[in-house]
Amino acid sequence: MARGGAARVAVSRYAEFAVSYCHRLPELDGVQNGVRFGAAARSPGATVGLWVTVAGPVDAYGMVVNLSTVVKGAIAREVLGPLDGAYLNDVWPEFETMLPAPESLAWAIWRRLARSLDLVRVRVQWRPTVWADYGGEGMDALLTIETQFCAAHRLSMPGLSLEENYAIYGKCARPSGHGHNYKLAVTVRGPIDPRTGMVAELVAFERLVNEVLVEELDHSFLNADVPHFAMVVPTAENIALYARDRLAEPLRSLGVELYKIRLYETDKNVCEVYGEGYGKD
Ligand code: NI
Repeated sequence: MARGGAARVAVSRYAEFAVSYCHRLPELDGVQNGVRFGAAARSPGATVGLWVTVAGPVDAYGMVVNLSTVVKGAIAREVLGPLDGAYLNDVWPEFETMLPAPESLAWAIWRRLARSLDLVRVRVQWRPTVWADYGGEGMDALLTIETQFCAAHRLSMPGLSLEENYAIYGKCARPSGHGHNYKLAVTVRGPIDPRTGMVAELVAFERLVNEVLVEELDHSFLNADVPHFAMVVPTAENIALYARDRLAEPLRSLGVELYKIRLYETDKNVCEVYGEGYGKD
């Protein structure tokens, strides 16, 4: 079969570096900064993970670009050299007026690597449960937080017999239910604030997700304790849709749009749904 134009292929390279930083605005006092930025208002350290993704056609040597020389070299020169072991607030001119947050750091790294690489994405893994993605779209970036909750559920369609439910849901239909340790990743999209360097402030973002959604679901029997699931089967798909519908409007109060929900029911079962207007559907 004839092949069309050269396919565009993406490849990624990972690196890690250690930093310290401080989230403190000079117009606020110590207490106000602490309330707004939490422990980040002190001077915490972090091991930052960096994923750099480049894309293009595959060349005669079988590569988009040599990850082990060209990409690794650019990361070493532009990122690890200036940042590894540094106090981020003092390193780059961008951080004279903008706090070094995961979003602003991804943006600032992109600006440097884009001089020599055909980038499609820079991901900054700020903490195991917090990461930012920048894809070269003006000042817009994605911020993701991951949280968890424990809940029990039973999969059964109201109105069907036990045998019919077993046929559809297998042992998930057993009458007394069973539990999962769910992991929930919430991704928002918005402009990077020129002062805070953030799309959403982490303390407020984490509090909102907890108060609006996690508190209701955690340590519950979903079918009985959460009114929505009285008549809606609490599959991972339906829980992800519920999370999307509960969070979309409140998140706008933080100046962001819900971009994606990813729900891990187990390490092997994962469900993903995009916010309205995003994704392919
Ligand atoms: Ni289950």
